Amino acid sequence: MSGTSVPTRSAAVSPPSSPSIESAPPVLYVDDDRANLLAFRAIAEPQYNVVTARSAEEALRILEGRHDFAVLLADQRMPGLSGIDLCERVRASHPDIERMLVTAYSDLSAAISAINRGHVSRYLHKPWNADELLATVRDAVERHRLKATVQRLQVRISETERMYALGVLTASIGHELRTPLSVVTSSVDFCRHALRQSLAQLTPESAPATTRALASLREIEGALSDAADGAQRLLEVVEGIHLSARGEAPVRLPVDIAHVVQSVLRLVRGEAALRARMVVDLAARPTVAGSATRLGQVLLNVVLNALQAMPQRPVEQNHVTISLREEGRHAVLRIADNGSGIEPAQLRRIFDPFFTTKQKGTGLGLAISRQIVEELGGEIDVESTLGSGTTFTVRLPILAQASS
Ligand SMILES: Nc1ncnc2c1ncn2[C@@H]1O[C@H](COP(=O)(O)OP(=O)(O)OP(=O)(O)O)[C@@H](O)[C@H]1O
Ligand SMILES: [Mg+2]
Repeated sequence: MSGTSVPTRSAAVSPPSSPSIESAPPVLYVDDDRANLLAFRAIAEPQYNVVTARSAEEALRILEGRHDFAVLLADQRMPGLSGIDLCERVRASHPDIERMLVTAYSDLSAAISAINRGHVSRYLHKPWNADELLATVRDAVERHRLKATVQRLQVRISETERMYALGVLTASIGHELRTPLSVVTSSVDFCRHALRQSLAQLTPESAPATTRALASLREIEGALSDAADGAQRLLEVVEGIHLSARGEAPVRLPVDIAHVVQSVLRLVRGEAALRARMVVDLAARPTVAGSATRLGQVLLNVVLNALQAMPQRPVEQNHVTISLREEGRHAVLRIADNGSGIEPAQLRRIFDPFFTTKQKGTGLGLAISRQIVEELGGEIDVESTLGSGTTFTVRLPILAQASS
């Protein structure tokens, strides 16, 4: 049975202040002694939305299906379930409610053990003092409010993170599709233009033009093969999205890096003609495991960056050197340019998604490239000197030769 509580109240108790008590989360006080419930109402009701119960069982019925309570104050000694039993159950069913025990001195050790076991956050002595009681309830309501705020913020942070990841994914798709799409478009445009010219030349009275038309048709064939490469690249990007959405790793095939270098050189020849001399030094012919298209995308991103970093000066003075070596068990691809170079402060950020110094850049080229290289068990590094140039190094594990 409960002991008698004699509520005392000092002049320091603050007057009722909250303008919307009804809308505030309620406080549940449980005690089998009606006098205590009335006293609690008299003290707390002006400031809090108070609900009372005469037993633990009644309290559980009140809480059933309701999750808006901020605080539970339970008397320890009640017929039926004790205050600690009630707090233990409420902890399981309503973990967000701040639970407190009201005890007589004789129940102190049980109350301390309840705190240690996490059933309640604190206890109040009986008979309670009104000031202490109100201060304790105020703290508990505030803790409940802070917890709810933290939970809301956590949800918002994880939503923001998901939105950011989705934004990176969407922008990455755009970035990856842009280059192959422009290859397809420009190759098809070229074919249409060259075909029109060839058709104009191939009239019955212009037989000597046949040689020129043949050369033109060969160029069309080359451009169509670039368009097919571009379309294949698009397909692989779309396939990659499909696989990663299903949580599957892309298939890895043997890739001849020298072949990748050659096909990227073909893709950038238009841009390179305007900006720099391309120097190629293939001292080895290593094979790695991966996707030729994905590795081509890495090389294309890095080479395009190198070409875009060239200062305005005669094209012969600008160089982009692509070299391929075997170093131990690694294929090492270096792309060195003598362009603008990168400031040390920017150098640390160039692999970050969305970091760009270009007016029309997305800042995704290197972020995507690093992701691809790391997926293949390799690494990509950069060295740069402002005003002198930049070198990117891609290291990939060489594919072990299958014994025949
Ligand atoms: N070879 C390089 N020389 C000088 N700066 C470079 C070089 N490569 C990269 N950078 C710097 O790194 C930044 C990030 O490159 P990244 O390829 O990720 O994006 P971007 O080229 O700006 O945009 P996008 O790839 O969409 O065209 C560039 O904006 C540029 O400042
Ligand atoms: Mg780029």
